[in-house]
Amino acid sequence: MVNDRSIRGLRVAVTGGTSGLGLALVRLLSAEGAAVAFVARTDADVERVVNETGAVGIVGDVSQKDDIYPIALQITANLGGLDILINNASSLGPVPLSPLADTDCEDLEEALRVNVLAPFRLTKALYGSLAVSARQGRVPTVVNISSDAAINAYPTWGAYGASKAALRHLTAIWGEESNDTGIRFISIDPGDMDTPLHALADPDADPATLKRPADSAAEVVDAIQAVRRTDGFNAVGVRP
Ligand SMILES: NC(=O)c1ccc[n+]([C@@H]2O[C@H](COP(=O)([O-])OP(=O)(O)OC[C@H]3O[C@@H](n4cnc5c(N)ncnc54)[C@H](OP(=O)(O)O)[C@@H]3O)[C@@H](O)[C@H]2O)c1
Repeated sequence: MVNDRSIRGLRVAVTGGTSGLGLALVRLLSAEGAAVAFVARTDADVERVVNETGAVGIVGDVSQKDDIYPIALQITANLGGLDILINNASSLGPVPLSPLADTDCEDLEEALRVNVLAPFRLTKALYGSLAVSARQGRVPTVVNISSDAAINAYPTWGAYGASKAALRHLTAIWGEESNDTGIRFISIDPGDMDTPLHALADPDADPATLKRPADSAAEVVDAIQAVRRTDGFNAVGVRP
């Protein structure tokens, strides 16, 4: 499959695939004919999504260092390699959201573990497989799900915002450093969506004012296809 830029037949891994945007991505990508593996911590939810979509479900915690290689091995063994990695699983840090002066160090650490270290470790663990994909002309792409909190200094969003800013910058540098391998890196803000994470962060928000996760998932897939069509790398800050 040299230089085929469509989604059908691509091997895709999604972290956090049982709820919100991740679930919508697993559904859409599976329906589009991609081979999909997804990760989440809760066994029953993983089983439910496997039964619904036929995707490969992996029970694991991306914030745990010891889970990363088992997750990576299950992804590549089940898919026979990897073309697209979507680092989507996320932590808010303190719930309810708190000013930094009231944020426990442990909550900041948790946000950094899930939102920065996990994508970093998983990308490293899968980098060789993505490089093989590049040599096969399959245009491998790492998508890191960001937030407008990576750019804007929203009060009480300190742990989450700082972690998403770090992830966004990591994405930019990794993109610059990957020109030789041909692996593309993009950072995408999916917008405010009606999901459990958003309800935890802002319980008073009117769901009617929020995006459907399925609409954001379609935009993420559009952005992946756009990056695959261009010769440019490193589309950090793409806002679908
Ligand atoms: N919702 C919004 O308005 C919004 C806005 C901007 C950006 N985002 C970003 O969009 C992405 C998706 O958010 P969402 O709102 O769809 O979240 P969500 O509905 O809360 O879903 C989170 C998913 O991640 C899994 N997960 C959480 N921690 C994990 C861990 N340590 N290891 C493995 N899986 C884990 C959860 O399952 P388990 O709990 O079973 O593990 C679940 O499948 C996140 O990166 C978020 O920061 C969201």
